[in-house]
Amino acid sequence: IKRIAVLTSGGDAPGMNAAIRAVVRSCSYHNLECVGVFRGLQGLIEADFKEMGPRSVKNIINRGGTILKSARSKEFMTKAGRQEAYDNLKEAKIDALVVIGGDGTFTGASVFNEEFDFPIVGIPGTIDNDINGTDYTIGYDTALNTVVEAIDKIRDTANSHNRLFLVEVMGRDAGDIALNAGIGAGAEEILIPEQNLGRDRLIASLKRSKKSGKSSSIVVVAEGDQIGKNIFGLAEYIQQNMDEYEVKVTVLGHIQRGGSPSCYDRVLASRLGVGAVDALLEGKRDVMIGISHSKIVTVPFTEAIKGDNEIDLDLIRVADITSV
Ligand code: F6P
Repeated sequence: IKRIAVLTSGGDAPGMNAAIRAVVRSCSYHNLECVGVFRGLQGLIEADFKEMGPRSVKNIINRGGTILKSARSKEFMTKAGRQEAYDNLKEAKIDALVVIGGDGTFTGASVFNEEFDFPIVGIPGTIDNDINGTDYTIGYDTALNTVVEAIDKIRDTANSHNRLFLVEVMGRDAGDIALNAGIGAGAEEILIPEQNLGRDRLIASLKRSKKSGKSSSIVVVAEGDQIGKNIFGLAEYIQQNMDEYEVKVTVLGHIQRGGSPSCYDRVLASRLGVGAVDALLEGKRDVMIGISHSKIVTVPFTEAIKGDNEIDLDLIRVADITSV
């Protein structure tokens, strides 16, 4: 391997720049050439390439977003699109690829690897933390801190007015952000797709906590949660069945994807970036580089993207006990 390309794909996440930087500088360290691909897998199809050296990634470790831009490519899902991408990689004499993204990116990478036997390794970059085989994904820690900071502010006004706030957080099919930020922000209830609480049990529990002396309440709702799917409808239902509180809704939205990465995310991204280039040089392919019990691990793409998101049941118990 002499020439490696790197790209970011899918939803962006704080820390992606730190990962790009680590890949580029790792290439330089090993005397390899490095090429940046703009707009993710779509950029492969359009041959949107740029040579990258160690100085081209200066002053980005602290920046949110991704300097290489990102996209969700529909064309890469077609055989013709992938063929175009392969031809462009060959034309540019690229020997291997590092993809930074989430499950959609890894699914595309795995199919591509199977079709063309092209060396690819992945780095998990998504705020959702919904990838198997790694304890953390890049951007998740920063997103948690953003959410907790926002809920702390909501708590101030909720308390002044004796209100109940439903706060929607991201996590398409995963409750990791909701559960951890919910515990960290001291939420009364946390609704996640992995556990269906049911509307009436939720109301009974909120009534109980009101009776026990609480003057305001915060309910954190993951966007993928079934009963919270239509958060405004849920708020209306709660209001109709509960006159103890005035009910308000806040949807945090894309602020969760931005901002300067936390130190944890910067270090994680740096370790995974170095690990990705190491893995390619060791002849590994079709794998994700993850972190497990603080150690760098390699996980087959098929394993990383398989099945349901796993939630630590102990966290649910902690949330229940500490919100009593
Ligand atoms: O996968 C990351 C994520 O932020 C999800 O939590 C969310 O559902 C989705 O991306 C939003 O995607 P978009 O930015 O394309 O609207």
